[in-house]
Amino acid sequence: MSIIAKAKELSKFDGKKVKVQGWIYGIRSSGKICFLQFRDGTGKFQIIAASNNLGNDAFEQCKKIQRETSVIIEGTVQKNDKDNAGYELISSNLTIIGDSPDYPITPKEHGPDFLLDRRHLWIRSVKQSAILRIRSSLEFAAVLFLQEEGFTRFDSPILTPTACEGTTDLFEVDFYNTSSYLSQSGQLYSEAGIYSLEKVYTLGPCFRAEKSKTRRHLSEFWGIEPEMAWIDSKENMAFQERFIKNILSYIADHHEKDLQILGRTPDEIRMPDKRFEILLYDDAVKILRNAGFSIEWGTDPGVEEEEYLSNTFDAPFFIYKYPVECRAFYIEPDPQRPEVALSSDCLMHGGFGEIITGGQRASDYGFLVSQIEKHGLSIDDFKWYLDLRKYGSVPHSGFGMGIERMVRWICDIRHIRETIPFPRTLKRLYP
Ligand code: 4AD
Ligand code: MG
Repeated sequence: MSIIAKAKELSKFDGKKVKVQGWIYGIRSSGKICFLQFRDGTGKFQIIAASNNLGNDAFEQCKKIQRETSVIIEGTVQKNDKDNAGYELISSNLTIIGDSPDYPITPKEHGPDFLLDRRHLWIRSVKQSAILRIRSSLEFAAVLFLQEEGFTRFDSPILTPTACEGTTDLFEVDFYNTSSYLSQSGQLYSEAGIYSLEKVYTLGPCFRAEKSKTRRHLSEFWGIEPEMAWIDSKENMAFQERFIKNILSYIADHHEKDLQILGRTPDEIRMPDKRFEILLYDDAVKILRNAGFSIEWGTDPGVEEEEYLSNTFDAPFFIYKYPVECRAFYIEPDPQRPEVALSSDCLMHGGFGEIITGGQRASDYGFLVSQIEKHGLSIDDFKWYLDLRKYGSVPHSGFGMGIERMVRWICDIRHIRETIPFPRTLKRLYP
């Protein structure tokens, strides 16, 4: 019985006889030799099938293998020095497990709708599986970092009675004949959590009924949202910086091959030691106006404006002290300048834009009541949240990072729909 080897660890078996199990995603034959492009759940490599090793019958069968046929193959691992190709397998025995007649996704270019309709198959491609492995590690690295920093995971509810991030993009769900909404963010609940556990985080799906189609919005995305007692907005940004540097270095350390598939190198992912810059919102507006944008003070920079700004930086950076009117109801105003909030966005450089929104939370009971009213929300619905300011309130801050936004930056992909196994957008609920 040969030992089962995985693509990721093939180099460990140099010169040894192993068994591999996976799928054939490409085949090229020339005379008495076939080159099979093989992948398993951990990566890819080439298999050489030659008639003199396999025998004529098996070789003839091998030549007819179609894309995505599942196979078990035995053979000997060897190094292929040509073009830094890594390791390959010289096969001595090949068993077809599942045929794959007329697999619909071919090497030719397909349009996005064709591929998205077949997302259940598209995720098998070498590029998509590399993205999904990186996504998984990003969530793992974020959780690992936060747990090691003393955070407690605090799972917030998905069915909620109220809005967290404004009422324009809520998904309404019937809840035993009353209205409920799919959670836009776990934040308000994690604010309750800090009074029990001090440092908490939520990791879960967030829902936004986004009415416009963009390359960076999903209707369902995953957010990781840390919340911290005794932390002000500046400490909050410093923590975000450590968080980002740490999770990106984890990806750089563990995903060299996946990054290579995506045309990225670990060095591009690892952040330099220098501190992330903090740009005041006022200065961001000046930069944008000088560049010819007609942004009004008090409005959120749009997608193009953010792209412009983030193209002028070579590292992630913060925009800090947004006008109160373009932020959510729960923000803490700057005591020196109450028209701006102690709230920030973190933008990824290279034109990618926002990946994090965060800030210090309102501490004053009366201010919070007036904000809830100003945003057209019901005081009754927020009684529980107001209680948090009534009983032992403490300064606290937190932030939320969109997992897909960060995957999009790491993998350098234009459209966010490729960063999640099954994207949900304005026009897509299938498959
Ligand atoms: O900026 P947002 O709306 O902020 C919040 O929800 C706060 N409650 C976070 C907090 O302080 N705990 O969302 C946070 C992040 C954004 O920066 C972005 O990365 C991502 O979530 N995001 C989306 N990602 C994909 N599709 C969408 N429609 C997104 N909306 C927000
Ligand atoms: Mg935001």
